[in-house]
Amino acid sequence: MSNQDALNKWTDVFMNTYGTPQLHLVKGNGATVTDADGNDYVDMLAGIAVNSLGHGHPALIDAVSTQVSQLGHISNFFGSDAALTAAARLREKFGDPEAKVFFCNSGGEANEAAFKLSRLTGRTTVLAAENGFHGRTMGALSLTGQSGKREPFAPLVPGVEYYAYGDIGHVRELVDKHAGDVAAIFMEPIQGEVGVIPAPEGFLNDVRALCDEHGILMVVDEVQTGVGRTGDFFAFTQAGVQPDIVTMAKGLAGGMPIGAVVANAKTAALFTPGAHGTTFGGNPIACAAANAVLDIVDDAFCVAVKEKGEGLAGAVDKLAGVDHVRGRGLMLGVVLSAPVAKDAVRVGLKHGVILNAPTDNVLRLTPPLTITDEELDRAVAALEATLNECVEETR
Ligand SMILES: Cc1ncc(COP(=O)(O)O)c(C=O)c1O
Repeated sequence: MSNQDALNKWTDVFMNTYGTPQLHLVKGNGATVTDADGNDYVDMLAGIAVNSLGHGHPALIDAVSTQVSQLGHISNFFGSDAALTAAARLREKFGDPEAKVFFCNSGGEANEAAFKLSRLTGRTTVLAAENGFHGRTMGALSLTGQSGKREPFAPLVPGVEYYAYGDIGHVRELVDKHAGDVAAIFMEPIQGEVGVIPAPEGFLNDVRALCDEHGILMVVDEVQTGVGRTGDFFAFTQAGVQPDIVTMAKGLAGGMPIGAVVANAKTAALFTPGAHGTTFGGNPIACAAANAVLDIVDDAFCVAVKEKGEGLAGAVDKLAGVDHVRGRGLMLGVVLSAPVAKDAVRVGLKHGVILNAPTDNVLRLTPPLTITDEELDRAVAALEATLNECVEETR
């Protein structure tokens, strides 16, 4: 089946939630994927910051195949080594040996769980950032500070107010307005879906101080930034703060569906049996995959991510058509001098690179964390050719 045949069938069969796919992919190896016509592409998106170990990593293949051959799914009436090990490792990464873990299946579900946890404090107001993104379930969507995404589904979950991202004065104003009723403040350390916008220096620290002052839960959404993506296991450690709750998903199991909430013991104790749950959460296959990722994403690996990210940002920053590059590690936003990002995604395919345009003037680069220097060089060369062509088209 050719690319075109497959894409025609796709639109016939699927609900139109994503538009027509750009390509029909058939295989992947490292940071390279191959389409149905046999063309290769450097994958600078990695399933939207998911394939942390790239495609076809032997450790992931081994972990998943071994686990599925032994014990695939058991429900949460029973426990497994894979889930127990993954949870113990996550709370260690969280930096709190007493913290507790809840496994689910996606980032939206992780934020949904954190939102529900916040309601059990007895307070009803939750603050979330304007332009933030926390997922598409009704709760996570309610936390998402993008009215265009929310409005078609109104009425949403009540009690959410939006603060200007990075503006601690505004956050304080909302805390004062809802005196004593703010249960939680949600934030992403870097807003990914609106063009890779890092929180200003000191913002997470100021939020932490405000939360301490008013007994508010600080919830850091590391669904996209977590698991080494920004050059540290969690981006919040770069600010030197300890959140009450962290949510994760995407890169955690290298492509197997998983979500996780880690909360300090006092917060976690708000959930009692029957309060929350999910059939697939903590399933042994996803947890075995997470353990394979956690085996590899250690401190030295994170340092390598930081170095690769700096090299990539430096090389891309020099290209014609690039205004500047922002972000950290291998989560970069390439801010273009002209609004040609969507064109660049299309043209990039011709030059053998998969790109992503969260906005009209920003390309987001989130390649596999295992991407090699050779693959990075190929990606930069393809990006250069792409941007030259896009700039030419706008002349
Ligand atoms: C910061 C953040 N939170 C939550 C989500 C939602 O995750 P999922 O699509 O797995 O539900 C995303 C997805 O892009 C995200 O970037």
